[in-house]
Amino acid sequence: MDLSTKYNGLKIKNPIIVGSSGLTNTVEKNKKLAENNAGAIVIKSLFEEQIMNEAYSDMKNNAEMYAEAFDYITNYSKEKSLEEYLKVIEGTKKAVDIPVIASINCTTASSWTKFGKKIQEAGADALELNISNLPTDIDRKSADYEKVYFDIVGSISKEISIPLSLKLNFYSAGLSNLIRTLDWTQKVKSFILFNRFYSPDLDIDKLKITSSNYFSNEGDYTRTLRWTALMFGNVEAELIASTGIHSGESVIKQILAGANAVQVVSAIYKNGPEHIGIMLKEIEDWMQKKNFKTIDDFKGKLSYDSVENPTAFERIQFMKYYGGIE
Ligand SMILES: Cc1cc2nc3c(=O)[nH]c(=O)nc-3n(C[C@H](O)[C@H](O)[C@H](O)COP(=O)(O)O)c2cc1C
Repeated sequence: MDLSTKYNGLKIKNPIIVGSSGLTNTVEKNKKLAENNAGAIVIKSLFEEQIMNEAYSDMKNNAEMYAEAFDYITNYSKEKSLEEYLKVIEGTKKAVDIPVIASINCTTASSWTKFGKKIQEAGADALELNISNLPTDIDRKSADYEKVYFDIVGSISKEISIPLSLKLNFYSAGLSNLIRTLDWTQKVKSFILFNRFYSPDLDIDKLKITSSNYFSNEGDYTRTLRWTALMFGNVEAELIASTGIHSGESVIKQILAGANAVQVVSAIYKNGPEHIGIMLKEIEDWMQKKNFKTIDDFKGKLSYDSVENPTAFERIQFMKYYGGIE
């Protein structure tokens, strides 16, 4: 059984990638994930805001600081965060023999893109950008929000030659068109569908805003499944499925829809790194039963373009499915 596949153009031994999170923020943890057979690792994101916030809080704590000192502190904070981050990349690269992908969570195409070069020099095999672009500003049009993606891709591409992947969210009025147009830039090697945002919740006793569960649940994979199936065959870049993938079965579904590989986070938080092996065994057993020898044997077999009645992927109204339930 050959479970190998491609991720950012790199050969990976199996389709289970550990997604960017607290699971991947130290060399030790990354070593353990590799020992447990992860196909690749995306290191915990360096946050554009984190860098800026650190600079800002230093400034607040030093009210009488001279103007020149502020510049120094700002740069120092950037360097410090970055230095620690680069050490994790370098150390992980030395400790494991699987691809190591760096990650930056960003919102603008500002000076952070210069860090891309250093990330590449530290040995990262690729760079993933988690573009946090939530269209909340009522005065901004969809096109203004979409432009941010192109600005960032253009800017970072000038700094790096390693493959670039984009971890997208689904908050876009013209999502398929946006993904395809980003693909046309030929600067994006893979699209990660989708990021899972922190979501607010409300406490009805304390009448306060709270946070909802950080972790996804088994079954949360269906939104990704729809968009992977819809985009497969429409973009040259790879599709990597993310969110709600907790079992070998949900990995198989995403590959059938057209994904090259998947990213897993919550299931590993809940069950430990050993869960990777359990998921891989489920995939192998299923492939054996179905007589599939490689991932390519079944990749995209149930994508939008391959099934007889693809409208099921497009349907969102209730009538047919829920109309009869009483
Ligand atoms: C505790 C935690 C920390 C995370 N940190 C990051 C991060 O730094 N960068 C990022 O791109 N995604 C981050 N994520 C999102 C995950 O990479 C992933 O996209 C999301 O959890 C959905 O996958 P899952 O359903 O397998 O958990 C984090 C998720 C969790 C639960």
